[in-house]
Amino acid sequence: MTSSTDGVVVGSRRRLVGGSTALLVGGGIGSAMTSLVRSAAAQSPAEAPPLPWKWVRLDPLEAGRRAYRFYKEKGGCGTASYLSLLSLLKEKAGYPWTTMPDFLMAHAAAGYGGHGTLCGALGGASTIINMVAYGGRKDEQQNNQIIDRLFWWYAEQDFPTERFDDLSPLPKQVRVKAMSPLCHTSVSKWAVAAGATIKSDAKIERCAKVAGEVAHTVTLALNEFFDGKWKPPVWKPAKGIEHCVGCHGPDTAAQKAMAWNQQGHMECVACHADHTRATTK
Ligand code: HEC
Ligand code: HEC
Repeated sequence: MTSSTDGVVVGSRRRLVGGSTALLVGGGIGSAMTSLVRSAAAQSPAEAPPLPWKWVRLDPLEAGRRAYRFYKEKGGCGTASYLSLLSLLKEKAGYPWTTMPDFLMAHAAAGYGGHGTLCGALGGASTIINMVAYGGRKDEQQNNQIIDRLFWWYAEQDFPTERFDDLSPLPKQVRVKAMSPLCHTSVSKWAVAAGATIKSDAKIERCAKVAGEVAHTVTLALNEFFDGKWKPPVWKPAKGIEHCVGCHGPDTAAQKAMAWNQQGHMECVACHADHTRATTK
């Protein structure tokens, strides 16, 4: 039976059962019908299983190489990182990954819809991280922690790395620290240093390599995580912003007594002047 036939059968069964329930208001038969509806829904192949979905050990280099290629062949950084991991999971783990659409993260390109917000490579990869590491109430922070540390790692990198230079017509590009997980900052800091425009081949190469590096790092981290070997790197604010975090939060012991008035782990001085320095001058 093909899956589309399954869909039709399930659909009509649902309509049928739903219709009968509507006629049976309250009482024993009504609740028996309700549980019938529920079990029909549970058995339906149209229902996505709840998270987390199964991760299998993947080859980080292959993930990175696919992401580099997909950036150029399939359309941008969101699809690059997401589809590199997804395509490997479809091949190695099969269902339910086979139910996921290839272009779920296409909109994340260029910082989501071209808006320059979160780097789409981080967005695409974090969708997969959430799907495999979502811990529910039992361990609700693990998915967020992996993602937080990924963003922090990204901001610290001198992009692009040379890991995928053998695939690239433009090896050994200028490397510049991203400073922020934001697409606009990451790309613009590099473009200024490289003297490149946004539509140039050089920028496309740079971002393809960034997507490759993100997929590589996420695969390494998830392999370690599911081997029980991943130790979340401790977030440590850069030297220039340690004092900001000390007063404004988050994550410092001394801060506990005060009310935090900012959330986030980004580089404060990318957007704010240091008012403590201004007053001591
Ligand atoms: C010694 C503690 C301390 C340090 C260090 C500190 N701040 Fe503040 N900051 C304050 C206080 C207190 C205020 C005033 C809060 C208020 O108005 O409620 C403030 C206000 C601010 C505001 C709001 C300004 C406004 O106009 O409302 C921003 C933004 C800010 N700080 C950012 C920073 C950044 C960025 C750093 C580091 C470069 C930093 N702060 C370092 C204590 C500190
Ligand atoms: C991407 C830019 C950006 C970054 C990075 C950033 N901020 Fe802000 N922050 C803002 C904006 C915009 C506001 C709102 C300012 C306003 O309306 O005056 C703000 C507001 C604040 C305020 C005032 C909050 C309040 O409720 O009064 C504090 C404090 C603050 N930021 C601290 C920080 C600290 C500390 C960091 C680094 C850990 C940081 N910010 C990083 C953009 C940023």
